[in-house]
Parts: sequence; structure tokens; C-alpha cells
Amino acid sequence: MAENGAGTYEQILADLMDREVIHRHDRVLVQFAGEFDRDVTRRLGLTRCTFTNLAPTSASSRLPEARTADAHHMDVPDRGYDHVIGHAGLHHCSRPHEALHEMYRIAAKTVVAVENQDSPLMRVAARLGLANSYELEAVADGGGVSGGVDGTGVPNHVYRWTRREVTKTVRSFDPGRDVPVEFHSRWLIGTDRALTSSMRSLLGDDASGRAALVGAVNLGLNAVARRQGNIFGFTIRKDLAAPRPWMVAGGAAGAGVAA
Ligand SMILES: C[S@@+](CC[C@H](N)C(=O)[O-])C[C@H]1O[C@@H](n2cnc3c(N)ncnc32)[C@H](O)[C@@H]1O
Repeated sequence: MAENGAGTYEQILADLMDREVIHRHDRVLVQFAGEFDRDVTRRLGLTRCTFTNLAPTSASSRLPEARTADAHHMDVPDRGYDHVIGHAGLHHCSRPHEALHEMYRIAAKTVVAVENQDSPLMRVAARLGLANSYELEAVADGGGVSGGVDGTGVPNHVYRWTRREVTKTVRSFDPGRDVPVEFHSRWLIGTDRALTSSMRSLLGDDASGRAALVGAVNLGLNAVARRQGNIFGFTIRKDLAAPRPWMVAGGAAGAGVAA
């Protein structure tokens, strides 16, 4: 992904398991899956995971056992899995909201996604060339033929989300119910993938000096503006969904597309 949220993904899932929102033997659909996701879910002891990816044998996945599927059109029934999770995939989709809707439709209890957050600070960083708007490195890693938008050789736009946008999107998906969303964010800039060429030249070739500087920058940013952090995770709690008052009082039919 543009900035690496690997640790955040595992922390969010571990926390959900500690809180008994996710149980070891729950059915979990892992979207955009790669060997990384297989390793994380194994470490967490999740026993019933189904892995899918549009290009399971590509350099970005390396998980040939994953099912081949396009996240925009999943051949899975509504509420077909307890949880639908995905790391660093939505921003590779040509229609990120549509892919998130599929995750929402398929999940009975939770949707967990780790992506990048849009914020005033990130926009400044992108303007200054310190953060990527298009992900050229992933396509280079894929030999120029994969790793980009919808798994193609066209570098994807790095679609960064805001909290407000996720909340509004979920409200549109399921207008008859109040569905809580939990958010997580932190700063982690300067990981290899995130380093644009101008940032590399700014920080120089000394790896240890670079690591120290990047560490200090992240520490400072997390101390003063963690909420705006570029690493962004959210958990959509369908398990806690409650009907909107007018749905109950008025006896209106239906409770949204994926109730
Ligand atoms: C940055 S990689 C992340 C892989 C893995 N989750 C990880 O974190 O290492 C993004 C993955 O999304 C997959 N992908 C891109 N567009 C997709 C789509 N429309 N449907 C399903 N998978 C897609 C790509 O094949 C790629 O493996």
C-alpha cells in the first residue's frame, strides 16, 4: 500500500478478538488477500478464513490458494461470512465505495479495513511530493503488468479515506439502521513503499540516520496529531446495528440493503 499499515491490521484484529467481537472459529472472508494476510490470520489463530484476490499469483499477493474474485462483484450471499476483512486493497479498486459495499453486504457482523487516511497534513505532504498520489512502485514490483488498479499494470490512485466519508458511506448503505464505526489512526511515514523519490533525496542514503529521523518525525506527529495519522483502520460494527427510531415507530418496511 502507499503507507504500510501492517501492524495496525493485526492490532485491530487482535483487539476485536480480545473483546470477543471476533471469535477464533468465526467465518472470515479476507479480501485482497496475500501471503501477508495468511500469516496474520494464522498468528491470530483464526481457523475459518477464505482468502480472495483478483490476482492471487501476482507479486502483490503470492497466495495461489486464494480464490480468484473481483472485490466489486463477489459471488457470495448477503451475510455469507461473519466478518469481511481487507488490508491495503480498497485503494487499488477502480470503485472503492462499490468494493466496500460488497464487504458490507457479505458481512454478518463486522467489516475491518486498513487503508490510508486523507487529512490536511497528508494533502500538504502530497503537494510537497512527500507522499504519493499514484502508486507507481507497486506496478514496478509487478513487472509492469500487475499491482495497479484492479490488479492491472496501470498505477492506481491512492484513494485516502476520511472518518466522515466512511460514516456517510455506511449511512447510505444501510439507512434504516444506526451502524457504529470504530476508527483507528496513527502516523507511519517513511516506510520504504511510502518514500517518494524526493523524500529519499531529502533524507539521503544513510539508512540508520534516515531511520532515526523518520522515527522521530513519526513520534512527534503521533504525539500532536495522531487523529490525522496516515494509517487508517475502521471497523464497521454491523453486530451493533440498531433500527433508526422512525423505522420502529413508523413501522416502515425493510431495514436497508444488507440488513
Ligand atoms: C497492496 S496489495 C495488498 C495485498 C495484501 N493484502 C497485503 O497487504 O500484503 C493489493 C491487492 O489487491 C488486489 N486487488 C486489486 N484490485 C482488486 C479487485 N478489484 N478485486 C480484488 N482484489 C484486487 C491486488 O491483486 C493486490 O494483491
